[in-house]
Amino acid sequence: MRKLWVCSYGCQMNVRDSEEVTGLLLEKGYALTESEEQADVILFNTCSVREHAEDKVWSNVGALKELKAARPELIIGVMGCMAKAQRGKIFKRMPHVDFISGPAQLYQVPELIETIWEERKPMMAIQEKQRQEFQTISYHSGKVTALVTIMEGCDKVCSYCIIPYTRGPEVSRPPEQVVEEVRRLAAQGYREVMLLGQNVNSYGRRMSGEPFVLRQAQHERQRVTFPELLKRVNGVPGIERVRFITSHPWDAVEELFVAMRDLEHVCEHLHLPVQSGSDTLLERMRRGYTAEEYLGKLELLRRTVAGAAVTTDIIIGFPGETEADFEATVRLMEKARFDSAFIFNYSPRPFAAASRWPDDVPREVKDRRLQTLLKLQEQISCEKDQPYVGQTVEVLVEEPGMGRSRTNRKTYFGDQGVKPGDLVEVLVTRLRGHSLVGEIRPSTGSGRTEPTDSARTVFR
Ligand code: SAH
Ligand code: F3S
Repeated sequence: MRKLWVCSYGCQMNVRDSEEVTGLLLEKGYALTESEEQADVILFNTCSVREHAEDKVWSNVGALKELKAARPELIIGVMGCMAKAQRGKIFKRMPHVDFISGPAQLYQVPELIETIWEERKPMMAIQEKQRQEFQTISYHSGKVTALVTIMEGCDKVCSYCIIPYTRGPEVSRPPEQVVEEVRRLAAQGYREVMLLGQNVNSYGRRMSGEPFVLRQAQHERQRVTFPELLKRVNGVPGIERVRFITSHPWDAVEELFVAMRDLEHVCEHLHLPVQSGSDTLLERMRRGYTAEEYLGKLELLRRTVAGAAVTTDIIIGFPGETEADFEATVRLMEKARFDSAFIFNYSPRPFAAASRWPDDVPREVKDRRLQTLLKLQEQISCEKDQPYVGQTVEVLVEEPGMGRSRTNRKTYFGDQGVKPGDLVEVLVTRLRGHSLVGEIRPSTGSGRTEPTDSARTVFR
């Protein structure tokens, strides 16, 4: 039996793509192994979003040179975004790689491996077009939560971003297929689904298999929007929680917030990347909103969905970022009061418009700004943690003694005979870092309570 070792970098979409390839290979009789040394096939599913993500792959794949020299029959594949973005360089810099495959071609990986086994020559399967078909997958790495791709690619043109190039234009998976997959997952015992897309809010603009141009009016009439999809997924018996990433602020509309409020299983957590608080930079990033407009959306969200948690992404050191631009980001963070934030140093990416502009913010300035924002966010996160103490939260158990609240807070509790997949109510007694710690309460059946900034309590 051939042994397989898979390593995934980057976003949840990549994790899901790796599951797809793993599932296809397991169906062909492969077995997963924990150790690279014992593997017959080693696969890296790579990320290109920042230079740092690529550096890790160059170094980790590079390190396999000796293993490959000792065991020439070993097959090493580099898949995903970096395979596409760096296709010219991978075989040159790492001749021990046997094949590369772009994100839209992963379903071909088992075939590629077979051919390599027979012909023993390096292979490349990179397609310029986007994914046309979505596969229902047979392997999931999570036990309680399953990842479900609802769309692929991105039609936005954020000037720093390589993803529209690596993953192609946006295409949505037909709603019936999504619901069917969620039903199967529920039947297999999954309790939570995470719906994945680069910008889930624009779901349904173009379904896979549809021609590019549809008459607008006809299209809008037929379109299943993201809130409508949420409604359908929410209705699948057995699924207790529905989460989704990622939302673009431009497309995050009131209809979505209303769906988050009204649909019982949709969790009150929105990841809404803001990127910057400076209108000048937002414009150059081509984000399509101002800081004020973003804050307006947040306010509407919080007014509509009481107790909603909001997380974000921020890029610092974007070309031309002045001290005043940076200060504007600090002010935005103070006003927005995110539950948490991923803060990244800008790195120029090939094929992205901004890569033509000088990366002119010095390293030390980037580092100082990064530290300032991390410190500020840490303080805000701590303040957002406090109101949880004394509250009862609904927790979906992921492993013995640990689960997550609806707002995505890790929650620990004494192991009281509950098992992964159970929904329990936990009275929070203290905090440990940013995690909640508490005791399981007998369920009152009244649903959940989550704190809000103003200490209002929500029942539903
Ligand atoms: N819509 C996507 C965004 C993917 S990229 C999603 O599904 O999450 C994730 C984050 O990486 C972005 O929100 C942005 O903050 C950051 N990022 C993208 N390109 C970058 C670059 N060139 N340098 C630094 N950070 C970047
Ligand atoms: Fe990238 Fe902007 Fe799309 S960050 S994935 S181009 S929404």
